[in-house]
Amino acid sequence: ARGADVDFRFTEEQLMIQDVARRIAQEKIAPSAEHHDQTGEFPLANIRTLGENGLMGIEVPAEYGGAGMDPISYVLAMVEIAAGDAAHSTIVSVNNSLFCNGILKFGTEAQKQLYVRAIAEGREIGAFALTEPQSGSDATAMRCKAIKQADGTFLINGKKSWITSGPVAKYFVLFAMTEPEKGARGITAFLVDGDRAGFHRGKTEPKLGIRASATCEIEFADYVAQPDEVLGDEGHGFKIAMGVLDAGRIGIASQAIGIARAAYEATLAYVRERKAFGQPIGAFQMTQAKIADMKCKLDAALLLTLRAAWVKGQDQRFTNEAAIAKLTASEAAMWITHQAVQIHGGMGYSKEMPLERYFRDAKITEIYEGTSEIQRLVIARNETGLR
Ligand code: CAA
Ligand code: FAD
Repeated sequence: ARGADVDFRFTEEQLMIQDVARRIAQEKIAPSAEHHDQTGEFPLANIRTLGENGLMGIEVPAEYGGAGMDPISYVLAMVEIAAGDAAHSTIVSVNNSLFCNGILKFGTEAQKQLYVRAIAEGREIGAFALTEPQSGSDATAMRCKAIKQADGTFLINGKKSWITSGPVAKYFVLFAMTEPEKGARGITAFLVDGDRAGFHRGKTEPKLGIRASATCEIEFADYVAQPDEVLGDEGHGFKIAMGVLDAGRIGIASQAIGIARAAYEATLAYVRERKAFGQPIGAFQMTQAKIADMKCKLDAALLLTLRAAWVKGQDQRFTNEAAIAKLTASEAAMWITHQAVQIHGGMGYSKEMPLERYFRDAKITEIYEGTSEIQRLVIARNETGLR
Protein backbone atom coordinates (compact mmCIF):
# COMPACT_ATOMS: atom_id res chain seq x y z
CA ALA A 1 0.00 0.00 0.00
CA ARG A 2 0.99 3.60 -0.53
CA GLY A 3 3.51 4.71 2.12
CA ALA A 4 3.03 1.46 4.04
CA ASP A 5 6.47 1.59 5.69
CA VAL A 6 6.47 5.28 6.46
CA ASP A 7 5.33 6.50 9.84
CA PHE A 8 5.26 10.28 10.19
CA ARG A 9 3.73 10.33 13.66
CA PHE A 10 5.57 12.11 16.45
CA THR A 11 5.86 10.58 19.92
CA GLU A 12 4.16 12.06 22.99
CA GLU A 13 7.54 13.36 24.23
CA GLN A 14 8.29 15.03 20.91
CA LEU A 15 4.90 16.73 20.89
CA MET A 16 5.37 17.80 24.48
CA ILE A 17 8.65 19.65 23.87
CA GLN A 18 7.19 21.18 20.71
CA ASP A 19 4.32 22.43 22.84
CA VAL A 20 6.60 23.90 25.52
CA ALA A 21 8.68 25.65 22.84
CA ARG A 22 5.56 26.97 21.08
CA ARG A 23 4.12 28.34 24.31
CA ILE A 24 7.30 30.22 25.27
CA ALA A 25 7.78 31.39 21.67
CA GLN A 26 4.25 32.77 21.39
CA GLU A 27 3.89 34.15 24.93
CA LYS A 28 7.35 35.58 25.58
CA ILE A 29 9.49 35.65 22.44
CA ALA A 30 7.20 36.81 19.61
CA PRO A 31 5.77 39.76 21.59
CA SER A 32 9.29 41.13 22.20
CA ALA A 33 10.75 40.32 18.77
CA GLU A 34 10.16 43.78 17.31
CA HIS A 35 11.75 45.44 20.35
CA HIS A 36 14.80 43.19 20.14
CA ASP A 37 15.10 43.78 16.39
CA GLN A 38 14.94 47.54 16.77
CA THR A 39 17.24 47.88 19.79
CA GLY A 40 19.55 44.92 19.19
CA GLU A 41 19.24 44.22 22.93
CA PHE A 42 20.38 40.72 23.90
CA PRO A 43 17.32 38.75 25.12
CA LEU A 44 18.90 37.39 28.31
CA ALA A 45 15.65 36.98 30.29
CA ASN A 46 14.06 34.90 27.52
CA ILE A 47 17.21 32.79 27.18
CA ARG A 48 17.08 32.02 30.91
CA THR A 49 13.40 30.99 30.54
CA LEU A 50 14.31 28.72 27.63
CA GLY A 51 17.10 27.20 29.75
CA GLU A 52 14.78 26.57 32.69
CA ASN A 53 12.51 24.65 30.31
CA GLY A 54 15.25 22.43 28.90
CA LEU A 55 15.45 24.24 25.55
CA MET A 56 19.11 25.27 25.78
CA GLY A 57 20.15 21.61 25.97
CA ILE A 58 17.41 19.72 24.16
CA GLU A 59 19.54 16.68 23.29
CA VAL A 60 21.66 16.94 26.43
CA PRO A 61 21.01 14.04 28.85
CA ALA A 62 19.29 15.01 32.13
CA GLU A 63 22.47 14.09 34.08
CA TYR A 64 24.17 17.11 32.45
CA GLY A 65 21.22 19.46 32.93
CA GLY A 66 19.40 19.03 29.61
CA ALA A 67 16.04 17.74 28.38
CA GLY A 68 17.40 14.38 27.15
CA MET A 69 15.39 14.47 23.90
CA ASP A 70 16.14 13.21 20.38
CA PRO A 71 17.12 15.11 17.19
CA ILE A 72 13.51 15.21 15.92
CA SER A 73 12.49 17.01 19.12
CA TYR A 74 15.30 19.47 18.47
CA VAL A 75 13.89 20.25 15.02
CA LEU A 76 10.34 20.67 16.32
CA ALA A 77 11.42 22.99 19.16
CA MET A 78 13.77 25.05 16.98
CA VAL A 79 11.04 25.64 14.38
CA GLU A 80 8.73 27.00 17.09
CA ILE A 81 11.38 29.28 18.61
CA ALA A 82 12.42 30.61 15.18
CA ALA A 83 8.77 31.25 14.27
CA GLY A 84 8.65 33.43 17.41
CA ASP A 85 11.91 35.21 16.62
CA ALA A 86 14.89 34.19 14.49
CA ALA A 87 17.50 35.98 16.63
CA HIS A 88 16.51 33.95 19.69
CA SER A 89 16.76 30.75 17.66
CA THR A 90 20.32 31.59 16.57
CA ILE A 91 21.41 31.80 20.21
CA VAL A 92 19.51 28.58 20.98
CA SER A 93 21.02 26.80 17.99
CA VAL A 94 24.64 27.65 18.84
CA ASN A 95 24.21 26.55 22.45
CA ASN A 96 22.48 23.31 21.55
CA SER A 97 24.12 22.03 18.43
CA LEU A 98 27.49 23.76 18.19
CA PHE A 99 28.44 24.03 21.86
CA CYS A 100 26.82 21.18 23.84
CA ASN A 101 26.78 18.65 21.03
CA GLY A 102 30.56 18.68 20.46
CA ILE A 103 31.41 18.41 24.15
CA LEU A 104 28.92 15.58 24.66
CA LYS A 105 30.46 13.71 21.75
CA PHE A 106 34.15 14.35 22.36
CA GLY A 107 34.47 15.72 25.90
CA THR A 108 35.66 14.04 29.09
CA GLU A 109 33.27 13.47 31.99
CA ALA A 110 34.73 16.49 33.83
CA GLN A 111 34.29 18.69 30.73
CA LYS A 112 30.67 17.62 30.37
CA GLN A 113 29.95 18.43 34.01
CA LEU A 114 31.65 21.80 33.89
CA TYR A 115 30.76 23.21 30.46
CA VAL A 116 27.62 21.44 29.29
CA ARG A 117 25.63 21.75 32.51
CA ALA A 118 25.98 25.55 32.82
CA ILE A 119 24.95 26.07 29.21
CA ALA A 120 22.15 23.49 29.07
CA GLU A 121 20.53 25.02 32.14
CA GLY A 122 20.70 28.47 30.52
CA ARG A 123 22.87 29.89 33.33
CA GLU A 124 25.70 30.71 30.91
CA ILE A 125 25.93 31.23 27.15
CA GLY A 126 28.20 29.16 24.90
CA ALA A 127 29.85 30.02 21.58
CA PHE A 128 31.69 28.34 18.70
CA ALA A 129 34.76 29.99 17.21
CA LEU A 130 35.94 28.68 13.84
CA THR A 131 35.78 31.59 11.37
CA GLU A 132 38.58 34.16 11.05
CA PRO A 133 38.80 37.42 9.09
CA GLN A 134 40.60 35.68 6.18
CA SER A 135 38.99 32.22 6.48
CA GLY A 136 35.25 31.54 6.49
CA SER A 137 34.27 28.93 3.89
CA ASP A 138 37.93 27.90 3.60
CA ALA A 139 38.04 27.05 7.29
CA THR A 140 41.35 25.17 7.28
CA ALA A 141 43.13 28.38 6.20
CA MET A 142 42.89 29.57 9.83
CA ARG A 143 45.86 31.39 11.38
CA CYS A 144 44.97 31.36 15.09
CA LYS A 145 47.75 29.35 16.76
CA ALA A 146 47.89 27.31 19.96
CA ILE A 147 51.50 26.41 20.57
CA LYS A 148 52.31 23.70 23.08
CA GLN A 149 54.70 24.79 25.83
CA ALA A 150 57.26 22.67 27.72
CA ASP A 151 54.85 22.39 30.70
CA GLY A 152 52.06 20.95 28.51
CA THR A 153 49.97 24.15 28.40
CA PHE A 154 49.09 25.89 25.10
CA LEU A 155 49.78 29.53 24.29
CA ILE A 156 46.97 30.86 22.07
CA ASN A 157 47.30 33.89 19.79
CA GLY A 158 45.04 35.05 16.98
CA LYS A 159 41.61 36.33 15.98
CA LYS A 160 38.19 34.77 15.35
CA SER A 161 35.47 36.74 13.62
CA TRP A 162 31.67 36.74 13.45
CA ILE A 163 31.32 34.88 16.73
CA THR A 164 27.65 34.45 17.63
CA SER A 165 27.10 35.33 21.31
CA GLY A 166 30.77 36.46 21.43
CA PRO A 167 29.88 39.60 23.43
CA VAL A 168 28.04 37.64 26.14
CA ALA A 169 29.33 34.07 26.20
CA LYS A 170 31.23 32.63 29.14
CA TYR A 171 32.61 29.57 27.33
CA PHE A 172 33.83 29.05 23.76
CA VAL A 173 34.72 26.00 21.70
CA LEU A 174 37.78 27.30 19.87
CA PHE A 175 39.58 25.80 16.87
CA ALA A 176 43.26 26.68 16.53
CA MET A 177 46.35 25.44 14.71
CA THR A 178 48.56 23.39 16.97
CA GLU A 179 50.71 22.10 14.07
CA PRO A 180 50.26 24.52 11.17
CA GLU A 181 52.41 22.46 8.78
CA LYS A 182 49.84 19.63 8.96
CA GLY A 183 46.93 21.72 7.61
CA ALA A 184 43.49 20.30 8.48
CA ARG A 185 45.19 17.59 10.56
CA GLY A 186 47.05 20.20 12.61
CA ILE A 187 43.91 21.79 14.06
CA THR A 188 42.91 21.19 17.69
CA ALA A 189 39.70 22.10 19.57
CA PHE A 190 39.89 23.90 22.94
CA LEU A 191 37.43 24.93 25.64
CA VAL A 192 38.05 28.57 26.44
CA ASP A 193 36.91 30.78 29.31
CA GLY A 194 35.93 34.30 28.23
CA ASP A 195 36.75 35.76 31.65
CA ARG A 196 40.41 34.71 31.63
CA ALA A 197 43.47 36.90 30.93
CA GLY A 198 44.45 37.04 27.26
CA PHE A 199 40.85 36.91 26.00
CA HIS A 200 39.43 40.05 24.37
CA ARG A 201 36.01 40.81 22.84
CA GLY A 202 35.58 43.27 19.95
CA LYS A 203 32.62 45.57 19.34
CA THR A 204 29.22 44.07 18.54
CA GLU A 205 28.68 43.97 14.75
CA PRO A 206 25.64 45.88 13.38
CA LYS A 207 23.72 43.50 11.07
CA LEU A 208 20.92 43.29 8.49
CA GLY A 209 18.86 40.81 10.51
CA ILE A 210 18.89 38.60 13.64
CA ARG A 211 19.91 41.83 15.33
CA ALA A 212 19.37 40.62 18.92
CA SER A 213 21.83 37.79 18.38
CA ALA A 214 25.07 39.51 19.39
CA THR A 215 28.07 38.88 17.13
CA CYS A 216 31.65 40.07 17.52
CA GLU A 217 35.29 39.39 16.82
CA ILE A 218 37.32 37.83 19.62
CA GLU A 219 41.07 38.01 20.04
CA PHE A 220 43.58 35.89 21.92
CA ALA A 221 46.80 37.48 23.17
CA ASP A 222 48.97 34.96 25.02
CA TYR A 223 45.89 33.16 26.37
CA VAL A 224 47.01 30.05 28.30
CA ALA A 225 44.94 26.86 27.87
CA GLN A 226 45.52 23.96 30.26
CA PRO A 227 46.02 20.41 28.92
CA ASP A 228 42.59 19.38 30.27
CA GLU A 229 41.00 22.16 28.22
CA VAL A 230 41.72 20.36 24.95
CA LEU A 231 38.48 18.94 23.48
CA GLY A 232 39.02 15.52 21.90
CA ASP A 233 42.42 14.54 20.55
CA GLU A 234 45.10 16.96 19.42
CA GLY A 235 45.02 17.31 15.63
CA HIS A 236 41.38 16.12 15.43
CA GLY A 237 39.86 19.59 15.74
CA PHE A 238 38.79 19.98 12.12
CA LYS A 239 36.85 16.71 12.13
CA ILE A 240 35.21 17.78 15.39
CA ALA A 241 34.26 21.12 13.80
CA MET A 242 32.83 19.45 10.69
CA GLY A 243 30.92 16.81 12.68
CA VAL A 244 29.47 19.45 14.96
CA LEU A 245 28.51 21.60 11.97
CA ASP A 246 26.60 18.65 10.49
CA ALA A 247 24.36 18.84 13.57
CA GLY A 248 24.36 22.64 13.47
CA ARG A 249 23.05 22.62 9.91
CA ILE A 250 19.95 20.72 11.05
CA GLY A 251 19.42 23.56 13.53
CA ILE A 252 19.78 26.26 10.87
CA ALA A 253 17.44 24.36 8.53
CA SER A 254 14.89 24.31 11.38
CA GLN A 255 15.43 28.01 11.97
CA ALA A 256 14.80 28.72 8.29
CA ILE A 257 11.58 26.67 8.44
CA GLY A 258 10.38 28.60 11.50
CA ILE A 259 10.96 31.98 9.83
CA ALA A 260 9.31 30.76 6.60
CA ARG A 261 6.31 29.33 8.46
CA ALA A 262 5.71 32.59 10.31
CA ALA A 263 5.80 34.48 6.99
CA TYR A 264 3.55 31.91 5.33
CA GLU A 265 0.93 31.97 8.10
CA ALA A 266 0.82 35.78 8.11
CA THR A 267 0.39 35.66 4.33
CA LEU A 268 -2.45 33.13 4.44
CA ALA A 269 -4.38 35.36 6.84
CA TYR A 270 -3.67 38.48 4.75
CA VAL A 271 -4.76 37.06 1.38
CA ARG A 272 -8.14 36.10 2.83
CA GLU A 273 -8.78 39.50 4.36
CA ARG A 274 -7.20 42.06 1.99
CA LYS A 275 -9.41 42.99 -0.96
CA ALA A 276 -8.63 44.45 -4.40
CA PHE A 277 -10.83 44.72 -7.48
CA GLY A 278 -13.77 43.57 -5.40
CA GLN A 279 -12.34 40.27 -4.17
CA PRO A 280 -9.83 38.89 -1.63
CA ILE A 281 -6.35 39.04 -3.14
CA GLY A 282 -6.05 35.33 -2.35
CA ALA A 283 -8.63 34.60 -5.04
CA PHE A 284 -6.37 35.86 -7.84
CA GLN A 285 -4.74 32.95 -9.61
CA MET A 286 -1.36 34.66 -9.44
CA THR A 287 -1.62 34.82 -5.64
CA GLN A 288 -2.91 31.25 -5.49
CA ALA A 289 0.11 29.98 -7.42
CA LYS A 290 2.40 31.76 -4.95
CA ILE A 291 0.55 30.23 -1.98
CA ALA A 292 0.84 26.73 -3.51
CA ASP A 293 4.57 27.17 -4.17
CA MET A 294 5.16 28.54 -0.66
CA LYS A 295 3.40 25.56 0.89
CA CYS A 296 5.31 23.02 -1.25
CA LYS A 297 8.68 24.57 -0.40
CA LEU A 298 7.81 24.75 3.30
CA ASP A 299 6.73 21.11 3.51
CA ALA A 300 9.69 19.88 1.44
CA ALA A 301 12.08 21.74 3.73
CA LEU A 302 10.46 20.31 6.85
CA LEU A 303 10.44 16.72 5.59
CA LEU A 304 14.09 16.90 4.48
CA THR A 305 15.06 18.36 7.84
CA LEU A 306 13.16 15.67 9.75
CA ARG A 307 14.92 13.08 7.56
CA ALA A 308 18.33 14.50 8.48
CA ALA A 309 17.35 14.48 12.17
CA TRP A 310 16.10 10.92 11.87
CA VAL A 311 19.36 9.70 10.32
CA LYS A 312 21.31 11.53 13.06
CA GLY A 313 19.17 9.72 15.63
CA GLN A 314 20.20 6.37 14.07
CA ASP A 315 23.86 7.18 14.83
CA GLN A 316 24.72 7.11 11.15
CA ARG A 317 26.76 9.71 9.26
CA PHE A 318 24.29 12.44 8.20
CA THR A 319 26.57 14.98 6.50
CA ASN A 320 24.75 14.80 3.15
CA GLU A 321 21.22 14.80 4.60
CA ALA A 322 22.06 17.81 6.81
CA ALA A 323 23.52 19.77 3.88
CA ILE A 324 20.49 18.95 1.70
CA ALA A 325 18.13 20.06 4.48
CA LYS A 326 20.06 23.28 5.19
CA LEU A 327 20.31 24.25 1.52
CA THR A 328 16.65 23.49 0.76
CA ALA A 329 15.28 25.12 3.89
CA SER A 330 17.36 28.30 3.70
CA GLU A 331 16.56 28.89 0.03
CA ALA A 332 12.88 28.13 0.76
CA ALA A 333 12.91 30.66 3.59
CA MET A 334 14.46 33.34 1.38
CA TRP A 335 11.94 32.69 -1.40
CA ILE A 336 8.93 32.44 0.90
CA THR A 337 9.73 35.61 2.88
CA HIS A 338 10.37 37.46 -0.40
CA GLN A 339 6.95 36.43 -1.74
CA ALA A 340 5.34 37.20 1.62
CA VAL A 341 6.60 40.81 1.44
CA GLN A 342 5.31 41.05 -2.14
CA ILE A 343 1.87 39.70 -1.28
CA HIS A 344 1.56 42.21 1.57
CA GLY A 345 2.25 45.10 -0.84
CA GLY A 346 3.18 48.33 0.96
CA MET A 347 2.43 46.71 4.32
CA GLY A 348 5.08 44.10 3.54
CA TYR A 349 7.66 46.88 3.36
CA SER A 350 6.44 48.57 6.53
CA LYS A 351 7.83 48.10 10.03
CA GLU A 352 4.22 47.98 11.26
CA MET A 353 4.19 44.32 10.24
CA PRO A 354 6.88 41.67 10.79
CA LEU A 355 7.23 40.66 7.10
CA GLU A 356 10.23 42.88 6.36
CA ARG A 357 11.93 41.47 9.49
CA TYR A 358 11.30 37.87 8.39
CA PHE A 359 12.81 38.76 5.00
CA ARG A 360 15.93 40.29 6.59
CA ASP A 361 16.28 37.44 9.08
CA ALA A 362 15.88 34.71 6.45
CA LYS A 363 18.96 35.89 4.52
CA ILE A 364 21.44 34.81 7.19
CA THR A 365 20.39 31.16 6.85
CA GLU A 366 21.96 31.13 3.37
CA ILE A 367 25.26 32.41 4.77
CA TYR A 368 26.28 31.01 8.16
CA GLU A 369 27.16 27.43 9.06
CA GLY A 370 28.33 27.05 5.46
CA THR A 371 27.00 29.21 2.61
CA SER A 372 24.60 27.77 0.01
CA GLU A 373 27.60 27.34 -2.30
CA ILE A 374 29.39 25.29 0.38
CA GLN A 375 26.28 23.12 0.92
CA ARG A 376 26.16 22.47 -2.85
CA LEU A 377 29.85 21.58 -2.75
CA VAL A 378 29.33 19.12 0.13
CA ILE A 379 26.28 17.51 -1.54
CA ALA A 380 27.91 17.23 -4.98
CA ARG A 381 31.14 15.79 -3.51
CA ASN A 382 29.06 13.18 -1.69
CA GLU A 383 26.97 12.36 -4.75
CA THR A 384 29.77 12.19 -7.33
CA GLY A 385 32.72 11.12 -5.19
CA LEU A 386 34.64 13.78 -7.11
CA ARG A 387 36.25 17.03 -5.96
N1 CAA B 1 32.46 14.98 9.34
C1 CAA B 1 33.65 14.43 9.72
N2 CAA B 1 34.81 14.68 9.07
C2 CAA B 1 34.77 15.51 8.00
C3 CAA B 1 33.58 16.12 7.57
C4 CAA B 1 32.38 15.82 8.28
N3 CAA B 1 31.22 16.36 7.92
N4 CAA B 1 33.84 16.89 6.49
C5 CAA B 1 35.16 16.78 6.25
N5 CAA B 1 35.72 15.95 7.18
C6 CAA B 1 37.14 15.54 7.25
C7 CAA B 1 37.57 14.92 5.92
O1 CAA B 1 37.28 13.55 5.91
C8 CAA B 1 39.07 15.21 5.92
O2 CAA B 1 39.70 14.25 6.76
P1 CAA B 1 41.10 13.56 6.33
O3 CAA B 1 42.12 14.62 6.54
O4 CAA B 1 41.24 12.43 7.27
O5 CAA B 1 40.95 13.16 4.90
C9 CAA B 1 39.18 16.57 6.63
O6 CAA B 1 37.97 16.71 7.39
C10 CAA B 1 39.30 17.73 5.63
O7 CAA B 1 38.15 17.70 4.78
P2 CAA B 1 38.10 18.34 3.32
O8 CAA B 1 39.33 17.96 2.57
O9 CAA B 1 36.78 18.01 2.73
O10 CAA B 1 38.22 19.88 3.69
P3 CAA B 1 38.06 21.17 2.78
O11 CAA B 1 39.16 22.11 3.10
O12 CAA B 1 37.83 20.80 1.35
O13 CAA B 1 36.74 21.88 3.37
C11 CAA B 1 34.41 22.30 3.56
C12 CAA B 1 35.53 21.27 3.37
C13 CAA B 1 33.13 21.51 3.47
C14 CAA B 1 34.41 23.40 2.52
C15 CAA B 1 34.53 22.93 4.98
O14 CAA B 1 35.69 23.72 5.09
C16 CAA B 1 33.32 23.75 5.38
O15 CAA B 1 32.33 23.19 5.82
N6 CAA B 1 33.38 25.11 5.26
C17 CAA B 1 32.33 25.95 5.77
C18 CAA B 1 32.68 26.41 7.15
C19 CAA B 1 31.46 26.64 8.01
O16 CAA B 1 30.44 26.01 7.86
N7 CAA B 1 31.61 27.52 8.98
C20 CAA B 1 30.60 27.74 9.92
C21 CAA B 1 31.13 28.49 11.10
S1 CAA B 1 30.05 28.37 12.51
C22 CAA B 1 28.75 29.35 12.22
O17 CAA B 1 28.58 29.87 11.16
C23 CAA B 1 27.80 29.46 13.41
C24 CAA B 1 26.66 30.33 13.20
O18 CAA B 1 26.57 30.98 12.23
C25 CAA B 1 25.62 30.50 14.17
P1 FAD C 1 33.76 33.63 2.18
O1 FAD C 1 34.21 32.28 2.57
O2 FAD C 1 34.78 34.67 1.92
O3 FAD C 1 32.79 33.51 0.93
C1 FAD C 1 32.45 34.62 0.09
C2 FAD C 1 31.61 34.08 -1.07
O4 FAD C 1 32.40 33.14 -1.83
C3 FAD C 1 30.37 33.30 -0.59
O5 FAD C 1 29.29 33.53 -1.44
C4 FAD C 1 30.82 31.86 -0.70
O6 FAD C 1 29.75 30.94 -0.86
C5 FAD C 1 31.71 31.90 -1.93
N1 FAD C 1 32.66 30.78 -1.92
C6 FAD C 1 33.69 30.54 -1.07
N2 FAD C 1 34.29 29.37 -1.36
C7 FAD C 1 33.65 28.84 -2.44
C8 FAD C 1 33.79 27.66 -3.21
N3 FAD C 1 34.71 26.73 -2.91
N4 FAD C 1 32.93 27.47 -4.22
C9 FAD C 1 31.98 28.39 -4.53
N5 FAD C 1 31.79 29.53 -3.84
C10 FAD C 1 32.60 29.75 -2.80
N6 FAD C 1 31.46 31.66 12.40
C11 FAD C 1 31.85 31.01 13.53
O7 FAD C 1 32.88 30.35 13.54
N7 FAD C 1 31.08 31.05 14.65
C12 FAD C 1 29.93 31.73 14.71
O8 FAD C 1 29.26 31.72 15.75
C13 FAD C 1 29.49 32.45 13.55
N8 FAD C 1 28.35 33.19 13.58
C14 FAD C 1 28.05 33.99 12.51
C15 FAD C 1 26.98 34.90 12.60
C16 FAD C 1 26.72 35.78 11.57
C17 FAD C 1 25.61 36.75 11.71
C18 FAD C 1 27.51 35.75 10.39
C19 FAD C 1 27.26 36.69 9.26
C20 FAD C 1 28.54 34.83 10.29
C21 FAD C 1 28.82 33.96 11.34
N9 FAD C 1 29.92 33.08 11.29
C22 FAD C 1 30.31 32.39 12.40
C23 FAD C 1 30.74 33.03 10.09
C24 FAD C 1 30.09 32.31 8.93
O9 FAD C 1 30.08 30.93 9.13
C25 FAD C 1 30.84 32.72 7.66
O10 FAD C 1 30.51 34.06 7.39
C26 FAD C 1 30.50 31.84 6.47
O11 FAD C 1 30.95 30.52 6.68
C27 FAD C 1 31.09 32.39 5.16
O12 FAD C 1 32.42 32.73 5.31
P2 FAD C 1 32.94 34.19 4.84
O13 FAD C 1 32.04 35.19 5.43
O14 FAD C 1 34.39 34.28 5.14
O15 FAD C 1 32.73 34.20 3.28
